[in-house]
Amino acid sequence: MHVYLDNAATTASYPDVFEAMRPYLSEFYGNPSSAHNTGRKTRVAIEQARKTIAKIIGANASEIIFTSGGTAANNIFLQGIAPSISHIISSPIEHPAVLHTLTYLDKIQSINLSFLTLEKDGQVSLGNLEEAILKYPGALVVLMHGNNEVGNLLLLEKVSTLCKRHNCNFFTDAVQTIGHYPINLSSLHITGLAASAHKFHGPKGAGFLYLKQGTKLSGIYHGGAQERGLSVGTENVAGIVGMARALEIAHLSYVEDKQHIEMLKKTMIDLLTRSIPGVKFNGSSANITNSINTVLSVSLPTHEQNEMLLFNLDLANISVSAGSACASGAATESHVLKALKHDSKRGTIRFSFSYLNTVEELRRVVKKLRDIYKLD
Ligand SMILES: Cc1ncc(COP(=O)(O)O)c(C=O)c1O
Repeated sequence: MHVYLDNAATTASYPDVFEAMRPYLSEFYGNPSSAHNTGRKTRVAIEQARKTIAKIIGANASEIIFTSGGTAANNIFLQGIAPSISHIISSPIEHPAVLHTLTYLDKIQSINLSFLTLEKDGQVSLGNLEEAILKYPGALVVLMHGNNEVGNLLLLEKVSTLCKRHNCNFFTDAVQTIGHYPINLSSLHITGLAASAHKFHGPKGAGFLYLKQGTKLSGIYHGGAQERGLSVGTENVAGIVGMARALEIAHLSYVEDKQHIEMLKKTMIDLLTRSIPGVKFNGSSANITNSINTVLSVSLPTHEQNEMLLFNLDLANISVSAGSACASGAATESHVLKALKHDSKRGTIRFSFSYLNTVEELRRVVKKLRDIYKLD
């Protein structure tokens, strides 16, 4: 039996998503920019997907820019807004798609960066944020909604209210939360938001940027007029259609999935605490209200087996990640765990759940961990 507990890295597409995409991979192949009937069919599908997504997140269709995923959405917004701002307030535990873009902007565009000092568990302190906003009026606030490594959940409404009160723009990377948490952008002060379909049981290579009406971005690509010149190249029609269908399904099953996934997370915390002496949980991971229910980051006691942990789990047909699923596959220490002052001699596993996981799978994983640590 294969156990897949790496849903923060990517998720299995809903079967219905594949069915929704199929026609756009076969009979409806027109270029949406073509003026003829074949092209118009795919244009209609894209505009329908835009409306569907916008309605679910409380936005206007014109505020949705289709991208190739979360990394692209983050880059298009951050690089695009850079010419009109001089200071960015962010946090040291953002995803590399944000963090590296910010460092680039600091170097190339002379944008000043301030990183907030976080609470011990990695939570953003609203007091520190307000202090920074007062110190740098007009700064752009960039804070992720759900952390992909330790699961910390941002107090989105409170941050949005704070930014509104001080009249500053707020951008959030919501790649780990869109499709898992209902978000109503019509009642939030958010200038930009990034989302990615493959994190909510949609296809890879499709995502979107929510861009508040009236926000001006400079395009970062040259030579493509698609998506108001902000995204690039001929649209991934099947991906866009699949993403909208995935969000619809996720939206309909929010409550049911939340209950199931939260139960899995609580069960895993309980099983690990009872079975592995000295186990701890990173960041706010084990705090059900302050973390996303899909992610549980576990800190394991120092042990000679830790180096081979993921390898041994993989041999047992159990797929998990150490911190995040790093694109290069390199086993470097995570910047998030470093920022949280995690003892690097301890092992780390990020378990991330979906509606497809079962308690039986969790029991199997914990039993395997006990085997590896020779606890039986
Ligand atoms: C928080 C966060 N932001 C951005 C990304 C990048 O998304 P994509 O893979 O769609 O480029 C990820 C993917 O792991 C993520 O977890």
